[in-house]
Amino acid sequence: MQAKFLKSLMYEAQYKDYSPDFVMYDTLLEKNIPVVEFGSGTGRITLHLLEQGYRVFGIETDEDYQGFFLNKIKEKGFIDNFCYVTDITEVVEICNIIYPFNVLFHLNYQEVEVELNKLYKFRHCWSKLIIETDNIQYINSQSFRSKFNQNQDYFFKEFPRQSKSKIIIYNEVIEKNSLNIVLKFEYSLYLHKADDLNRIYNQIFPSAKLYGDFNLQFYRKNSPKLIAVCIK
Ligand SMILES: C[S@@+](CC[C@H](N)C(=O)[O-])C[C@H]1O[C@@H](n2cnc3c(N)ncnc32)[C@H](O)[C@@H]1O
Repeated sequence: MQAKFLKSLMYEAQYKDYSPDFVMYDTLLEKNIPVVEFGSGTGRITLHLLEQGYRVFGIETDEDYQGFFLNKIKEKGFIDNFCYVTDITEVVEICNIIYPFNVLFHLNYQEVEVELNKLYKFRHCWSKLIIETDNIQYINSQSFRSKFNQNQDYFFKEFPRQSKSKIIIYNEVIEKNSLNIVLKFEYSLYLHKADDLNRIYNQIFPSAKLYGDFNLQFYRKNSPKLIAVCIK
């Protein structure tokens, strides 16, 4: 398993133990209905939800993350309560939907509009929608910091570079024994400013409530987070 899921091992080295957002999902998610997680990744949040007794549908485009997570939940015995779907329209029961942990920054502005309009069109399929991103007022040098991590076998390096309206994150996985680069990959992030996201939220979900942190304090310009909660 080690050498197979290198991308996942890199993600886990950085974020596996990050959990301050769990309290918000524990507070907001309705019991007894399934959760759809857009961008479920290596399953950091999904696993927590499965442990809380939820059934979860994951939407995830990356096959490395998918394989890694399926292996993990087979080992933990949660496989019956989890299923991948490619789209919200495949879920045929009322659910809660979460867009967590800056996943919206993986979509460009037009894609965000398309995605949220689709959710509006299929609003009969869900009862609560939670979208969480950082509250970006302006982009500063913090956004371009390189990051270094490691696990027992590998070093992980991440170099962000600005490219017009987006940031390209260049990644390398280096095997500790040989010091060979065993994986290189890149992805783009669109650091949407809070004003732009708020404009879309307001257009599509005018009654959405906005919160500024995981303890659900009301949103302000200087809040660390921008969390939109739409209830039908
Ligand atoms: C920041 S990670 C979050 C992972 C996980 N939700 C967590 O909280 O740790 C964002 C995830 O979204 C996935 N992703 C990006 N674009 C996507 C898309 N269009 N559809 C589904 N998943 C996507 C990425 O592959 C990545 O796994």
